[in-house]
Amino acid sequence: MTIILGLESSCDETAAALVTADGRILAHRLATQEEAHRPYGGVVPEIAARAHVEALSPLVEAVLADADMTLDQVDVIAATAGPGLIGGVMVGLVTGKALAHAAGKPLVAVNHLEGHALSPRLADPSLQFPYLLLLVSGGHCQLLLVRGPGDYARLATTIDDASGEAFDKTAKLLGLGYPGGPAVEKAAAGGDPSAVPLPRPLVGTAEPHFSFAGLKSAVMRAAQSGRYSTEDIAASFQQAVIDCLVDRTGRQLASHGHVTALVVAGGVAANQSIRAALESLASQHGLPFVAPPLWLCTDNAAMIAWAGAERYAAGLVDDLTVPARPRWPL
Ligand code: KG4
Ligand code: ZN
Repeated sequence: MTIILGLESSCDETAAALVTADGRILAHRLATQEEAHRPYGGVVPEIAARAHVEALSPLVEAVLADADMTLDQVDVIAATAGPGLIGGVMVGLVTGKALAHAAGKPLVAVNHLEGHALSPRLADPSLQFPYLLLLVSGGHCQLLLVRGPGDYARLATTIDDASGEAFDKTAKLLGLGYPGGPAVEKAAAGGDPSAVPLPRPLVGTAEPHFSFAGLKSAVMRAAQSGRYSTEDIAASFQQAVIDCLVDRTGRQLASHGHVTALVVAGGVAANQSIRAALESLASQHGLPFVAPPLWLCTDNAAMIAWAGAERYAAGLVDDLTVPARPRWPL
């Protein structure tokens, strides 16, 4: 059975994982840089790159030890080659190239977004192409028709902020700290989602895209007014995001009747209220709802190893000249 070593270093998590081509996770490890970035309220690229350099090699050794294996027993090296903070991406990709070269193994350069997009198939091997994917992360908010590895149609994207970015900025505005998504979700649990009137940008319009910038400004005004509790603002904000996601996703489900499932991936997919709303949307359309387990939603290397497995099985390998890319649309 083919064994893939995956490396991830595109943002603020350094990670390594060993996955088999039939979807068994042999080992996975992650070193988060949250504490290093917390004083700055966001990810500082230079700090991130240096931390990736320090963390990656020990993580690779650790996953090999966890699985009781040597590098020789690995068949394929998969590394994130973008998009992301370029210093970090280079650390992971160069490490991947060095390991591939030293061990004489094929290299698969993985688009981080493809890692998220295919991760639901690692969690649920019965999931078949094509599926409708809502990809919601710190840098992206997209609806993709996933037809196979390397075969995507982008149906909608955000015209301003990503959904995770909206959560992070709202958390900062409300003084809830970093990382913002989990903090807003926690505060929202104690609030009333209908307490604060907030806009639902683009909802009900004929165009397919997302927009969150107006929502963020409205949150700022609500916070400055002093009329609402932090919990009520957080809950109302989260509800507005849910309404936008459900409306835009429902529009695509209505016009793509042939998909096998509604799938959600990316860090924001860790949000329980968002998952519940999408699950009910899927069932209204008579479709299964598939979401990776929480730890597979946020950045990790198992999804990169798995995307490497899918690409390798499809005959997609890269040579050692493949570049690191800060921007790389799917
Ligand atoms: O996919 P990811 O781990 O990194 C990127 O590739 O961007 O996503 C991180 C994003 C952050 O914006 C974070 O605030 C958001 O996902 N996030 C959440 C939750 N957990 C993480 N947003 C809402 N609710 C959550 N529970
Ligand atoms: Zn991500």
